[in-house]
Amino acid sequence: MNILILGSGGREHALAWAVKQNPNCDRLIVAPGNAGIAMLAEVASIDILDGATVVTFCEENAIDFVIVGPEAPLAAGVADACRSAGLLTFGPSAAAARLEASKAFTKDICDACAAPTAAYARFTEAAPAKDYIRAQGAPIVVKADGLAAGKGVIVAMTEAEALAAIDDMFGGEFGAAGAEVVIEEFMAGEEASFFILTDGTHALPIGTAQDHKRAFDGDTGPNTGGMGAYSPAPVLTEVLQQQAMDQIILPTIREMARRGTPYQGVLYAGLMIENGKARLVEYNARFGDPEAQVLMMRLGAQALDLMLATAEGRLDKVQVNWADDHALTVVMAAQGYPGGYQKGSQIRGLEELPEDSRHMVFHAGTAQRDAQIIASGGRVLNVTARGETLQQARDAAYALVDRIDWPGGFCRRDIGWRALDA
Ligand code: AMP
Ligand code: GLY
Repeated sequence: MNILILGSGGREHALAWAVKQNPNCDRLIVAPGNAGIAMLAEVASIDILDGATVVTFCEENAIDFVIVGPEAPLAAGVADACRSAGLLTFGPSAAAARLEASKAFTKDICDACAAPTAAYARFTEAAPAKDYIRAQGAPIVVKADGLAAGKGVIVAMTEAEALAAIDDMFGGEFGAAGAEVVIEEFMAGEEASFFILTDGTHALPIGTAQDHKRAFDGDTGPNTGGMGAYSPAPVLTEVLQQQAMDQIILPTIREMARRGTPYQGVLYAGLMIENGKARLVEYNARFGDPEAQVLMMRLGAQALDLMLATAEGRLDKVQVNWADDHALTVVMAAQGYPGGYQKGSQIRGLEELPEDSRHMVFHAGTAQRDAQIIASGGRVLNVTARGETLQQARDAAYALVDRIDWPGGFCRRDIGWRALDA
């Protein structure tokens, strides 16, 4: 089987790594890919936001199965274009990807199926939004409706911060994404992520994870795309997973189908857990990054079988084979990230590291210059390891980190602390 994965980050490197191990994978192409991905798959430089381009590329390369990694091509309808052309495709339609692309839409779905989530109101003008904030008081959460590269959410601890966020959003800081604003009740508790495959009708949970969004140790410093993650997330107990399935995930899947826009792909539910109950924070229409890195390390080759079953509508016929294991990934980022950072610094020592079913350095933002690997993004490497316990996974991941010679980079030293120090 010839497989095309769309995307260029650590998530796509992890997907490619898992898919490549499956004997059903004959040829693997990742577009556009990165320097790490190029070591295990072919890479192709095409515009992955353009459905027609992707379809033509698939036809020219006899692609049998397309896996869409990031949200942007999903929101742009690339999965629709592929399916219309008769290509077997993993990933939701643009209509179904609205679960990530529009926060107001997700709230509407929660209302329709009575899924527990934060109380909210929607606004298209500043004055009534500000009145609402003054009436509710702080803390309160202000969200741009649309995709804003993870930056459109302001968790305001004071009323002044919330009011300023309204001015920024209606002032155009997030462009069209901020034309509508959702204002939400602040939820306290512990956050965790739950990943569910669905073919539109059936649902199969494939794991839990927690990430660390702040840049520095002790969960301090600015917000980032994620500085590390681990799986499973102990806070998401079996009981809570079942509750989330019954009250949030399955009702969402049924409501999407009822509306004629069934959701097919991976549903990534961000949950807030407080007092033994889970509430929905948000949905994403894709695997998390860096959560996919730990999930793929745990799933291995079966990830391809599961994604195929999703695309073919036969998830009721498959199951996940779990090892009773743990995985942890440490993000190495360029000094300065998430603010301004330099590109082009050289990374040494990678070729001497083990790459096997328990250790893998996934590349998130690298490029090859002559024979050298250089940093080409903010988040650059995802140093990932698996162990029988979370502590073993963490020790193994940091042992790899310590062998990487990259003065231009930094990482947190405390990934997993919440689960280990509890
Ligand atoms: P989102 O993009 O919706 O996941 O929001 C980004 C982050 O903001 C989440 O991961 C939470 O940490 C935080 N957040 C979002 N909504 C709320 C809420 N209603 N209460 C507390 N924190 C929230
Ligand atoms: N790690 C958070 C995300 O992928 O959205």
